[in-house]
Amino acid sequence: MNKDFLSIAELTREEIFEIFDLTKELKEKTHRREEHHILKGYSLAMIFAKPSARTRISFETGIYQLGGMALYLAPQDIGIGTREAVKDVARVVSRYNDLIMARLFAHSDIEELAEYSSVPVINGLTDYNHPCQIMCDAFTILEHRGKLDGLKIVYLGDGNNIAHSWINFASRVPIHLVISSPRDYQPDPKTLQSALNAGLSTIELVADPVEAVSGADVLYTDVWASMGQEDEAEERRKIFRPYQLNSQLLAHASKNALVMHCLPAHRGDEITDEVIESPNSIVFDEAENRMHVQKAIMVKLAENLK
Ligand code: CP
Ligand code: NVA
Repeated sequence: MNKDFLSIAELTREEIFEIFDLTKELKEKTHRREEHHILKGYSLAMIFAKPSARTRISFETGIYQLGGMALYLAPQDIGIGTREAVKDVARVVSRYNDLIMARLFAHSDIEELAEYSSVPVINGLTDYNHPCQIMCDAFTILEHRGKLDGLKIVYLGDGNNIAHSWINFASRVPIHLVISSPRDYQPDPKTLQSALNAGLSTIELVADPVEAVSGADVLYTDVWASMGQEDEAEERRKIFRPYQLNSQLLAHASKNALVMHCLPAHRGDEITDEVIESPNSIVFDEAENRMHVQKAIMVKLAENLK
């Protein structure tokens, strides 16, 4: 593996499946309450410029289960890029800690953090992508369906960080990915082009949500206004309304279609209460798997330190 984990596009297909194999092993050990202190004595600095529940809790608990410890550094603590330059934070934190996980606004900031850090940097979300999330989502689909190839995975909503990581995933593992977004909220064309150039997956942009979800095996959605876009929420609520994942839309998918959401969900906006609580929904399996997948990622990255 590379020194850092910033994007799924930086992994090979083999590395992705190695992470999934290790995830399965670690998840089983965790459920059996079997000690697995693979990272005994390691410390993880978690730098957050935005809020978080799952990312913080799953990384903090995950490193603890691996025998290490985590430091939670809230937005007001470090002031990365404001109180102190990103490259200085990188060099200071890597003198104390073995691993860094960061959730930042600009993707260029996490690239700079990784460039100047002597220890592995894990991307816990930027405005551009959210690779830990989509690794976990793909693993969760594999658990439920036993395969990814041959499934129609439909992402509804904003062409945002989640959409980009799905497209990056499709550049490394063959899937049928459909992105259904309003005209002015399409994913980044360069990201899309590079996944299309990889030539592995079928990737379609289908503006009409009903057409997009027709026969889908997996329906995935995310908030319409991401962290940092709160002031656009009202306007977006009107524009994105036809993309709401509700029972009417779900009825166009295949019978036992899986419903996924990275969470937090805005019930009544991008997804209804009824759909998120339906038997189709695997959102809490998905949330749990954040921890197992990230443990595997930390173990793999730490192998480079030995
Ligand atoms: N899905 C996810 O990353 O959740 P948090 O923003 O709560 O970490
Ligand atoms: N697109 C969302 C994902 C949250 C996990 C955001 O960036 O806020």
